[in-house]
Amino acid sequence: MALRKIWLNLNGADRMMVCDPEKDTLADVLRRVGLTGVKLGCKTGQCGVCSVILEGEVVRSCIKKIKDVPDFSKIVTIEGIGTPTNLHPLQQAWITYGGVQCGFCSPGFIVSAKGLLDQNPNPTREEVRHWFTVHRNACRCTGWKPLVDAVMEAAKVMRGEATMEDITFKAPPDGRIYGTNVPRPAALAKVTGLCDYGDDIKLKMPPGTLHLAIVQPGLNHAVIKGIDCSEAEKMPGVVKVITSKDIKGTNRIMLPVAHPRSKADGFERPIIADTKVFRYGDVVAVVAAETEERARAAAKKVKLDLEELPAYMSYLDAVAPGATEIHEGIPNEYLRMPLFKGEDTRDVLAESDYVVEGSFYSTSQPHLIMEPDVTQAYIDEDGNVCIHNKTLALLFPLITLAPGLGLPDGKIRVIENPTGASFGSSISPASSALAAACTLALDGAPVTLTMSYAEHNAFSGKRAAHYSNARMGCDKNGKITGFEFDFAYDHGAYTEMAAILASKAIRFAGFSYNIPNVRALARVGFSNQTFGTAYRSYGNSQAYTMSEAIVDMLAEKAGIDPFEFRYINLARPGDTNINSYPFKEYPFTTLMDRLRPLYEEAKARAEAQSTPEKKRGVGLAFGGYNVTGGPADHAEVALELNEDGTITHYNTWEDQGQGGDVGTLVLTHESLRELNLDYRQIKLVQNDTAQCPQTGPAGANRSHYMAGNATINAAKKLLNAMRKDDGTYRTHAEMVAEGIPTKYLGVFDTTDITVDLDPNTGVGDPTPVYNYAVFLAEVEVEVATGKTKVVAMKMIYDIGAIGSIQAVEGQAYGALTHSIGFALSEKYIDNNKYSSLVRCGFLYADDIPDDIYLESVPSPRKTAPFGSVGCCEGFQSAGHVAVINAINNAAGVRIYDLPATPDKVKAAMEAKAQGKELKPEKYFLGSDLFEALDDIAENPVESTGPDMAL
Ligand code: FES
Ligand code: FES
Repeated sequence: MALRKIWLNLNGADRMMVCDPEKDTLADVLRRVGLTGVKLGCKTGQCGVCSVILEGEVVRSCIKKIKDVPDFSKIVTIEGIGTPTNLHPLQQAWITYGGVQCGFCSPGFIVSAKGLLDQNPNPTREEVRHWFTVHRNACRCTGWKPLVDAVMEAAKVMRGEATMEDITFKAPPDGRIYGTNVPRPAALAKVTGLCDYGDDIKLKMPPGTLHLAIVQPGLNHAVIKGIDCSEAEKMPGVVKVITSKDIKGTNRIMLPVAHPRSKADGFERPIIADTKVFRYGDVVAVVAAETEERARAAAKKVKLDLEELPAYMSYLDAVAPGATEIHEGIPNEYLRMPLFKGEDTRDVLAESDYVVEGSFYSTSQPHLIMEPDVTQAYIDEDGNVCIHNKTLALLFPLITLAPGLGLPDGKIRVIENPTGASFGSSISPASSALAAACTLALDGAPVTLTMSYAEHNAFSGKRAAHYSNARMGCDKNGKITGFEFDFAYDHGAYTEMAAILASKAIRFAGFSYNIPNVRALARVGFSNQTFGTAYRSYGNSQAYTMSEAIVDMLAEKAGIDPFEFRYINLARPGDTNINSYPFKEYPFTTLMDRLRPLYEEAKARAEAQSTPEKKRGVGLAFGGYNVTGGPADHAEVALELNEDGTITHYNTWEDQGQGGDVGTLVLTHESLRELNLDYRQIKLVQNDTAQCPQTGPAGANRSHYMAGNATINAAKKLLNAMRKDDGTYRTHAEMVAEGIPTKYLGVFDTTDITVDLDPNTGVGDPTPVYNYAVFLAEVEVEVATGKTKVVAMKMIYDIGAIGSIQAVEGQAYGALTHSIGFALSEKYIDNNKYSSLVRCGFLYADDIPDDIYLESVPSPRKTAPFGSVGCCEGFQSAGHVAVINAINNAAGVRIYDLPATPDKVKAAMEAKAQGKELKPEKYFLGSDLFEALDDIAENPVESTGPDMAL
């Protein structure tokens, strides 16, 4: 290896370093000298998290070869732009205007924005968006709008039109921060590049840490006949090649499918593939070596003897007659959940004035996060197998991995690293299992595993694809008479939380409407796609894909405007939901009343701006989501009074960027208002299972509600202990002197305020509160190409009171962006084509509208902490269907299979011009719907009791 000495001017100082001119990128060199504010995500020039300014130009340093960087080049990284004690206006604006969620993209964006403002101190919003598009600055969290806001506000300071104070948060005079824009506690480290994410922690692990590289088969379905590691083990620096044979336990991830109708128990997934490959991203071996480069080189030398099997690349293939079992002994369609409400819909629909039917499909949606999977594992000072990664469920490795790993004492500790988002995918304990298995196979040697973007994309789960057939009818006045649907989730290779998913379609299809008669079935099945996993609006986005489309179709058939049709059918007090229980609240018409003038304006705008070449249209959809994980949901937090009068809050409210830190802060401050604390007196200790009580997963909109109620409970206990007879409060010293504990556990549980779904009828009331949202999309369809552009999105929502404006609106902007992608471009198929952001259909700033309008219309919530229920899942529930409905409104064509890519829209328009409609045939989902429902009615099962229904 021929190395080169190089001098670079880094952030104003000349520095000498040694590099490999053939292999090193500029990013490699900068990170090696400690400038880890230069992040690495895609490493292929698609995400911009590695952006730096090189001789005045913004470049992506991951694709800039060091050999192309001349000596003494001037380079500015985030570390040279500002520091925690001397912030640049862009950094301050990022903090104040919601530019930081997970923050993984923040350094790259701020550097890029600095490059823009250096050239153009007074850009328009469009110029800012276009700059970010051209420079491939990608953010999956914020929906771009807050980033543009931040640039515009910072630019004012840089032009001398505003001061730093103007763009810095100030608490209101009464000190109350609940319901304000108080910044996230983690934001400062993120905007200065000092926050260490997994790959930064890797660089700072102690000597002796081994680097792991995975071996993935690149086949979707195969028998493993042999693995030859001999050549790999002879490669330089290799310590061991780990296979399933090195795992001392059962080698299974044991996340049960707790459902009496399930034919799968949830124990089918290996930690390292042993007998079969079930999907493209399975791991069949892991190389441990002294460096990552050596581990990767050796991984290429592992020889696999695989016998390829027929791969069922969709649920439809897997349940087609003659298909064989993917997991031996378990039918490919393994779970059915029925729903019966009112009369038999065959009779009802036969007598209805208008009936429509359709078959719908939505693709497997990739999460498209910026930070790929990174995991560390080691043995800690208490003998625990300690796992660090971006998990959003610290609990899951604790309860699912010990038997598989062969740890009879179950000594596992989990710590969440600062996380470059996940939107649900990191709920899976799979990468935890992998790293833990490796450290155990290496006699406790510390290990670190960084997956490439392509490896991560193949390894992680996705939003499950779905197929459905539906019929809906109404009377001549537009009142819905009956709804019938057969709905299948394509859950891919593994069962991960399948029972939870099955409940979603039969709870949320038709949610918000008064539907008297329903017959429905939700099915879940295997295929050889990657496994289905959590994703914001888990399971519901698919349900609304069907139900909010068929509602529009029925409105059209009945000749009623889709707004009015919805308004006629929205549930009013006294009406029941499809599970035959009253809704918890009836905010539906209130939200629509607020939307009505916006809808009328949008329709008028569409009409005025439509041309023969570019047709404009407006679409609506109603959505919402459950809050909490269902009947057995439970959360604990702890509050401690410190010697100096400050408070420490301990919890495992995992922060994926959504704001577990700021949520904890505002809830704690509000719960302890009578102490008159400055909010900066509250300290947070979070997301380490050895230090914090179990607050539960950051899913199902549950964290704010569950942790909030537990916080109120802990605060009451602490305040009662501190309160003296005269109404004043004991100090820490006084508490200690009197022998009064200074730390209190707060608990909240949903068991007594919910009713689990009956597995024989679907009747039940499983979650205590909900959130609601109605979406409006304005689109423009280019007739020549079929390309759809969303020009505006509006959302009126009810999540109760708002605890943190920044966190709530941040979720909303981000969720709407994901919904636009789901509607128009995002897709994942398990093969090497879908390995990157761009190939999966990621949309950059120019493709997302700047015109996004949000409005909160809160209604009271009885059991919610300070009236707030949490938000994020509902925000991504149905916006995509508003886009699909808007395409129909604009171009007169309905797209039944998502995403609505230009080719599909164009083909539909061409067919329409010939008087035809492109409509899928009715799907065969494993059996006839009513035969399946009759079978269930004749063979009732006992409920197994409440399960977590995330
Ligand atoms: Fe460099 Fe993505 S563009 S890491
Ligand atoms: Fe931009 Fe998370 S804040 S990717």
